[in-house]
Amino acid sequence: MGKIAICPGSFDPVTLGHIDIIGRASKMFDKVIVAVLINPNKRPSFDINERIGLLSEATKGIKNIEIVSFDGLLADYAKEKNAVAVVKGLRAVSDFEYEFQMALTNKKLNPELETIFLTANSQYMYLSSSMVKQVASFGGDISDFVPACLYDKIYNRLKGVS
Ligand code: PNS
Repeated sequence: MGKIAICPGSFDPVTLGHIDIIGRASKMFDKVIVAVLINPNKRPSFDINERIGLLSEATKGIKNIEIVSFDGLLADYAKEKNAVAVVKGLRAVSDFEYEFQMALTNKKLNPELETIFLTANSQYMYLSSSMVKQVASFGGDISDFVPACLYDKIYNRLKGVS
């Protein structure tokens, strides 16, 4: 069947940093499942179907990926999908503590599951979905942050929303 990895996240909205990590993971594994979290406690800017739609458009060129929604525990979902690893991007030191905590929790819940951190591309070191939201809400240019094909959809939704 080949080795399967999961790239989990909220992707609200997807950024060029996410696409970079997904693309690199797709070269390391036979299949990558991009798992978009349904979080009932958060009110996302883009609903689950919109987030999946944006991701699908931006990853058209990557053949070995599947984009799905998930809720519940990532560790359980990974087991259900026979995934061997979770792949995440690590930006600055500030990401580390939270990511380390999640990786250890997932390891405890599913000892077979490895977490692999890819160093964020230096271009995207500072990039996050919340920063994209903030810049766009004030009418700033987000063209260096989101895939060009998604610019209008993302910008028009976020502009003027704070
Ligand atoms: O893009 P995000 O919001 O940083 O992604 C966080 C995500 C989806 C990876 C994380 O919240 C998650 O795995 N949630 C599922 C619930 C879970 O498994 N929790 C236990 C591990 S902390």
